[in-house]
Amino acid sequence: MANNRFAAKTALVTGAASGIGAAIATRLIAEGARVVGVDINETGLKALAERFGDRFVAATSNVTIESEVAAAVSTAVDQFGGLDLAFNVAGGSLIGAVTEMAEQDWDFTIDLVQKSVFLCTKHEARRMREAGGGAIVNVSSLDARIPVPGASPYATGKAGVEMFSKNAALELAPYGIRVNCVLPGLVDTPMGAPIIGYQPALDMFLDRIPLRAPATPDQIAGPCLFLAGDDASYITGTSLIIDGGWQLTGFPNLAALAE
Ligand SMILES: NC(=O)c1ccc[n+]([C@@H]2O[C@H](COP(=O)([O-])OP(=O)(O)OC[C@H]3O[C@@H](n4cnc5c(N)ncnc54)[C@H](O)[C@@H]3O)[C@@H](O)[C@H]2O)c1
Repeated sequence: MANNRFAAKTALVTGAASGIGAAIATRLIAEGARVVGVDINETGLKALAERFGDRFVAATSNVTIESEVAAAVSTAVDQFGGLDLAFNVAGGSLIGAVTEMAEQDWDFTIDLVQKSVFLCTKHEARRMREAGGGAIVNVSSLDARIPVPGASPYATGKAGVEMFSKNAALELAPYGIRVNCVLPGLVDTPMGAPIIGYQPALDMFLDRIPLRAPATPDQIAGPCLFLAGDDASYITGTSLIIDGGWQLTGFPNLAALAE
């Protein structure tokens, strides 16, 4: 996919060390951008830096800590002279039943899924506002729309990401900053591995996914780049579901696996 769609653009990608974030960073660089990769996984970032040379700068930062987010955004400006595009991808979750979940596990997941997107958007948008515009893509999940047994903070946080993105789109439109959101279904990454690597669970999911496969990370990266690019210049505040049609059928009843 080598073309120059993002030539002269600087992009920040959180969660860049793995999965969807790594696929977004890889496609951006293939299409001409310079990328600041943000992650807590220093080793993963180093591997990308070795692969991409001076087109990629690693910022080892925790996206739940405001000072680290602000520093990562400053890295884009210091190293590449500005910030045009941002992809807020980093995420993860702790699981547990509503009746059993510890307060700190709830807080951990909500901070990682939801607060991080607020902190990143805040600091990215400040830079973009100074430069007269930009585009932000936040990664939510199909779980924002469909409850998942044992994943209440994750689903709640992802629903928050979707609404936050709409709110930010409304507030930032006057500055020429577009904000959109994607809702992936099941994706073949380390996060998806517990399902994809366990055949009985995978079969149940595939029964619900009309296209009969999990997404590759690249199948999520492509639509994210579309939303960030000029072809989407009149799109803001929208949510794009990328799920192989899974939204049409709902979640499998995983409780059946325990019987
Ligand atoms: N894999 C799926 O099935 C799926 C489905 C829907 C949505 N998503 C969402 O897509 C996004 C990317 O997930 P993925 O599947 O690529 O998972 P992944 O585990 O491969 O990548 C997540 C990355 O986020 C980084 N990260 C975690 N906590 C961080 C923190 N505090 N600060 C900075 N970086 C941090 C990790 O180190 C990792 O590199 C997440 O927001 C996830 O919720 C994934």
